[in-house]
Amino acid sequence: MASPTLFFIFSLVFLHVMFVLGNITLSSTLSTNDNDAWLSPSGEFAFGFRQLNSTNLFVVAIWYDKIPAKTIVWNAKANETLATAPAGSQVQLTLEGLTLTSPKGESIWKAQPSVPLSYGAMLDTGNFVLVNKNSTFEWESFKNPTDTLLPNQFLELDGKLTSRLQDTNYTTGRFQLYFQNGVLLLSPLAWPTQLRYRYYYRIDASHSASRLVFDELGNIYVERVNGTRIRPQGPTWGNSSLDPKEYYYRATLEFNGVFTQYAHPRTNNAYQGWTIMRYVPGNICTAIFNEYGSGSCGYNSYCSMENDRPTCKCPYGYSMVDPSNEFGGCQPNFTLACGVDVKAQPEELYEMHEFRDFNFPLGDYEKKQPYSQQECRQSCLHDCICAMAVLGGNTCWMKRLPLSNGRVIHVNDQHFVYIKTRVRRDFYDPGANEELPPGADSKKEDGAKPILLGSLIGSLVFISISMLLCAVSWFILLKPKLTRLVPAIPSLLETNLHSFTYETLEKATRGFCEEIGRGSFGIVYKGQLEAASCNVIAVKRLDRLAQEREKEFRAELSAIGKTCHKNLVRLIGFCDEGINRLLVYEFMSNGTLADILFGQSKAPIWNTRVGLALGIARGLLYLHEECDSAIIHCDIKPQNILIDEHFNAKISDFGLAKLLLFDQTRTNTMIRGTRGYVAPEWFKNIAVTVKVDVYSFGVMLLEIICCRRNVLTMEAEEEEKVILTDWAYDCYIEGRNIDALVENDEEALSDNGRLEKWIKIAFWCINENPEVRPTMGMVMLMLEGFVEVPNPPPPFSMHSIS
Ligand SMILES: *[C@@H]1O[C@H](CO)[C@@H](O)[C@H](O)[C@H]1NC(C)=O
Ligand SMILES: *[C@@H]1O[C@H](CO)[C@@H](O)[C@H](O)[C@H]1NC(C)=O
Ligand SMILES: *[C@@H]1O[C@H](CO)[C@@H](O)[C@H](O)[C@H]1NC(C)=O
Ligand SMILES: *[C@@H]1O[C@H](CO)[C@@H](O)[C@H](O)[C@H]1NC(C)=O
Ligand SMILES: *[C@@H]1O[C@H](CO)[C@@H](O)[C@H](O)[C@H]1NC(C)=O
Ligand SMILES: *[C@@H]1O[C@H](CO)[C@@H](O)[C@H](O)[C@H]1NC(C)=O
Ligand SMILES: *[C@@H]1O[C@H](CO)[C@@H](O)[C@H](O)[C@H]1NC(C)=O
Ligand SMILES: *[C@@H]1O[C@H](CO)[C@@H](O)[C@H](O)[C@H]1NC(C)=O
Repeated sequence: MASPTLFFIFSLVFLHVMFVLGNITLSSTLSTNDNDAWLSPSGEFAFGFRQLNSTNLFVVAIWYDKIPAKTIVWNAKANETLATAPAGSQVQLTLEGLTLTSPKGESIWKAQPSVPLSYGAMLDTGNFVLVNKNSTFEWESFKNPTDTLLPNQFLELDGKLTSRLQDTNYTTGRFQLYFQNGVLLLSPLAWPTQLRYRYYYRIDASHSASRLVFDELGNIYVERVNGTRIRPQGPTWGNSSLDPKEYYYRATLEFNGVFTQYAHPRTNNAYQGWTIMRYVPGNICTAIFNEYGSGSCGYNSYCSMENDRPTCKCPYGYSMVDPSNEFGGCQPNFTLACGVDVKAQPEELYEMHEFRDFNFPLGDYEKKQPYSQQECRQSCLHDCICAMAVLGGNTCWMKRLPLSNGRVIHVNDQHFVYIKTRVRRDFYDPGANEELPPGADSKKEDGAKPILLGSLIGSLVFISISMLLCAVSWFILLKPKLTRLVPAIPSLLETNLHSFTYETLEKATRGFCEEIGRGSFGIVYKGQLEAASCNVIAVKRLDRLAQEREKEFRAELSAIGKTCHKNLVRLIGFCDEGINRLLVYEFMSNGTLADILFGQSKAPIWNTRVGLALGIARGLLYLHEECDSAIIHCDIKPQNILIDEHFNAKISDFGLAKLLLFDQTRTNTMIRGTRGYVAPEWFKNIAVTVKVDVYSFGVMLLEIICCRRNVLTMEAEEEEKVILTDWAYDCYIEGRNIDALVENDEEALSDNGRLEKWIKIAFWCINENPEVRPTMGMVMLMLEGFVEVPNPPPPFSMHSIS
């Protein structure tokens, strides 16, 4: 009786072991000559040899085998340096361990626990393990990481990550992540040694850290001895919003020193590689600031954050030491030394070029004060040691080579950089400036410099906006492309949408009798389904859908059907029968935001309004940045925000703009949206982007703050107050009298500066230039207070702010 059951249990255990562990039996070997590797049971990770680019050398590595990039997550190191193997080398698993031997039989690398082994296995987590007779892991690649952590991997107090030297050079590089006295630190190394310079980022667990955890949900945190967690902090380290079931995650200490978490779709998708999710430190260019070492870029080169990555540039007259290595530093194109050309006047040999936007804050050998621009230039020109002078106010700092810690800075009218270069005799022509890069000024005399105030302000605005955008870098990178790559009509079966017959809906709405709303797309009726869990529904009857749009209707529905967010009204199903196109939504009992803000009854209290605004922002962020392809709403207004019984704001009518009216050849007659909420670019002949929704959100945010409509009728109000956006800006700019905007709302006034901050956010959103408007990701960070809100530029240009 018992034996079939026993057999069943046995086979389950057996199967389990088979699938979880792809056992590698003792005396198995891998060689550089055959192209095989040990795969994990799912085939996602592989262990084997990888050839180094443009060499005949190999490394033992673990990589993602199913994605085109075959990204390496681990490689063997011997004595803290990359273990390279010539062709013909071999890896063998024996009773004692795993050994890498050259064709001559020399041992290059080994993993040898002191206990006899039973087998090895490449696990589906990406961990390669050596297992003893008792099934305990005696050695794990997870416990000997190189520069990458994977989900389910921990870094213990004695563990460390060391960056590689360059993106494709796996030699041990210039940065390290490690624990010291219970504090997690990131430090530059005195390359090629392992001496650590002062840290540039730390997670301070008050000296009680026990390990760094990368859990299977993608969270990364330091765990304290008592089990509490500390997440990395910083504007570029937000919450993760990608589903770990659909994305691979990894966290890598990059060769440039940035600890970055990446995601990659698990499905083989040639269009999308690794995207940056978040990283620390927020700006590596300024985070490193050490007396020793070159800073984040190499010597004589300066750093700026562009598209979430540090990039290095050479100053004028300098070029890269190694043109294939941007981070390898720069050298002057000329000789700069004392004791050469003593007979000539410095004026004949050298010239000074003026720049504004970078600095090398260390490496000064002389500080002169008070000095004018002319004096600062001249003293550097006449000093054979001086390579560069920086004037800040009336202080002149003289710098010699090598220059370190270079970084881009905000242009300010107190800061000048003078670079000394040799006169290029062969081409020299005092009249010609063409060889200078834009922004350089090679005037040798210190005449009046006609700096256009306008352009200065312009660049200030530009730089602050770039900074702003940088701060949400990971958001931007994750922004999906507006053009769809999915060619075929997606099947509605992939979604949970229900297809209703017209008859069912007619019956549910009792012949379309109870109208609950009327929008630009059609009329909405209340209905009740007979046998369904959420049986009260809202049925929208679409008008104006052209017949030939049949395919798009289904394609678009499938996109809408895949959305799922607590701040979006859920589409339950649809009806597509003959000329009838209906959409079935969940029913929202508290009406629209317009009803509760501008209706007869008292408007909701400040805290409720704050919650509503945050909810709407989250919903929009989801539509813009977290769907397969961005969904532009095009008609954000209080009438399109529904409120559920728990006072959650839910965006409705999303996805319909594209479905019903939107085509790429948009003309003025096709202007979507509603007066007062429409972004100015609708009226210009430029492409409409997600930023139109940001504009409308800005208007609505002011309405939520002030509890009034954006446009009132002339009779109802004093003239200056008719248009809310104008009036609010007037109040803000004239002595910051923003209290008037909320009248006597004590709660709003006492909310710790949130009122002013949010009003400023609204002005950023309604800027007439879509480029200046922040993305919803940035808006979210500012609303939640993770990012400072800079003072907004005037939202409108040709406006009568007199
Ligand atoms: C893997 O090794 C364990 C322990 O020796 C053993 O029980 C199991 O049967 C092995 N699985 C395979 C597929 O060889
Ligand atoms: C690593 O260093 C030890 C001692 O410093 C030395 O004996 C050993 O040969 C080195 N191994 C390799 C692979 O260089
Ligand atoms: C296996 O377990 C037994 C009993 O717990 C222990 O005596 C033995 O030392 C272990 N062997 C190894 C190799 O860990
Ligand atoms: C080899 O170099 C190419 C181009 O530089 C690069 O795209 C590729 O990823 C490199 N391969 C490896 C294994 O690093
Ligand atoms: C990596 O960089 C080191 C140090 O510059 C150099 O010696 C080595 O040849 C490089 N390796 C490859 C594969 O380019
Ligand atoms: C855990 O330890 C930290 C630092 O030692 C302390 O600040 C924190 O309150 C502790 N938390 C708990 C729940 O014990
Ligand atoms: C991020 O997640 C943490 C913990 O789950 C939560 O407390 C915090 O509010 C979240 N922040 C954002 C911006 O969603
Ligand atoms: C410096 O030299 C590099 C190559 O040697 C050249 O490409 C570059 O234009 C030079 N720059 C200047 C400003 O002379």
